[in-house]
Amino acid sequence: MPKCIIDGREVEFTPGKNIIEVAKEVGISIPFFCYHPGLSVVAQCRMCAVEIEKMPKLQTACSTVPTEGMVIKTKSDRVLQAQKATMEFLLINHPLDCPICDKAGECDLQDNSFGFGDAYSRYTEERRTYMDLDMGPVIKKNMNRCIHCTRCIRFGDEIAGIREMVAVQRGNNTEITTSDGRALETDYAGNYADICPTGSLTLHDFRFKKRVWFLTKTATVCEGCSRGCNIDLHHDAGVIQRCTPRENLAINKYWICDEGRFNFHYVNDESRITDPVLVEAGHLNSVEWASGLDQARKLMAGKKALVLLGSDLTQEEGKLLKEFFPKHLPNAQVFHFGTPGVSDSKSDADADKILKRKSKTANLHGMESLGFKPFEKAPAGCEVALVIRGGRAVVPALNGLRAIGIGVFQKEHAKDFSVILPGASFAEKDGTVVNFAGHEQKVARAITPPGQSKLLPEVLMMWINQKAVGAA
Ligand code: SF4
Ligand code: SF4
Ligand code: FES
Repeated sequence: MPKCIIDGREVEFTPGKNIIEVAKEVGISIPFFCYHPGLSVVAQCRMCAVEIEKMPKLQTACSTVPTEGMVIKTKSDRVLQAQKATMEFLLINHPLDCPICDKAGECDLQDNSFGFGDAYSRYTEERRTYMDLDMGPVIKKNMNRCIHCTRCIRFGDEIAGIREMVAVQRGNNTEITTSDGRALETDYAGNYADICPTGSLTLHDFRFKKRVWFLTKTATVCEGCSRGCNIDLHHDAGVIQRCTPRENLAINKYWICDEGRFNFHYVNDESRITDPVLVEAGHLNSVEWASGLDQARKLMAGKKALVLLGSDLTQEEGKLLKEFFPKHLPNAQVFHFGTPGVSDSKSDADADKILKRKSKTANLHGMESLGFKPFEKAPAGCEVALVIRGGRAVVPALNGLRAIGIGVFQKEHAKDFSVILPGASFAEKDGTVVNFAGHEQKVARAITPPGQSKLLPEVLMMWINQKAVGAA
């Protein structure tokens, strides 16, 4: 491999990688704003200036690739002076908003200002100001904080495939907006907030909810479709506050869709059933676990049962159920379900040109690999239904069968069920899911199941071991 010298260290590099990436690999951090590894390079902000021997002017590290023997300095006096000047320029119009800005605590402008800027400003002119504006239901815009890095414009053009962000006016009046002020249209709008290096584009959904330093981050996998995008769930005190993409170049690169980003809301929704309930004449009566389980077992005793397993269950849950049914419910006919119109992996396909898949559950391909067949193949003549789901799979029409539910259900589901035993969502359990391309990925527990909800292995253990209520 060719070698260059960075800050006096000999560094091997892969040809084609820019100086920012090569330096990062050996622990040398170069500040930047407009550069993003998933977008084209425009060298616009000048924050990444470095000194290169034999080149009279400072060069931008984002747009320069090292060559054999190149000598690069990232901390020389000239570089430090340039960084300070760039920070002063970028902050000329920037308000002192950090105490009320959602980006504070994870803001590149804040961090670089702290690391490379000055503690005071020489600027005495009036700052430009704009009103906060909605850019549709996902993004709120605050142009006072914008540094014109154009990441958002490039994301629209290059990733979302829609030129909806533009820079209008020029110089001091430059403003980022949609071309005619209309709402953002992309289904990937949340990424604008992630890539904006300042608090100019923030999520309506997360705005003013929590300071980011109070949040704990759990690395897991989105359950929104069979792509299995890598995500972080950010939570505090058992409540999920937001979901952000986690880099995985083989699966989702740096992005997620809005459906996946906001999917977590059902986990903490108050309509979720978190006690065992018996449904009588449309009323939900909370009962002890023992009574709920007893009622479920009585309803199923000796009956020909249709068992429907959501393709939102994990591989571990699927394997456990595969062993459970022949031993403990031998009359059961077991099938999987998940997305209307996508009965099996053959009918799953890309739903757009970016990430989304047609199967709206994460483990359709895994459930198939365990040998479960789609419920469309279920025979007629069953007397009772047992539906086990994680929270995403769409419950099919049960055609008047008396039904028992185990897992995550909302109050609106109750009309179709006689008994519901509450279970854990994807955010509350560990496990494995298999995406459409066969990648096995780990789902991680971020929070504990709410109320009396239990993990599926625990429910099955109780089912096996519990004596009938009232029995000696
Ligand atoms: S809104 Fe954010 S991402 Fe867009 S140009 Fe301004 S600072 Fe950059
Ligand atoms: S594309 Fe699918 S897996 Fe990726 S974020 Fe969207 S819903 Fe989740
Ligand atoms: S990151 Fe290199 S010029 Fe902006």
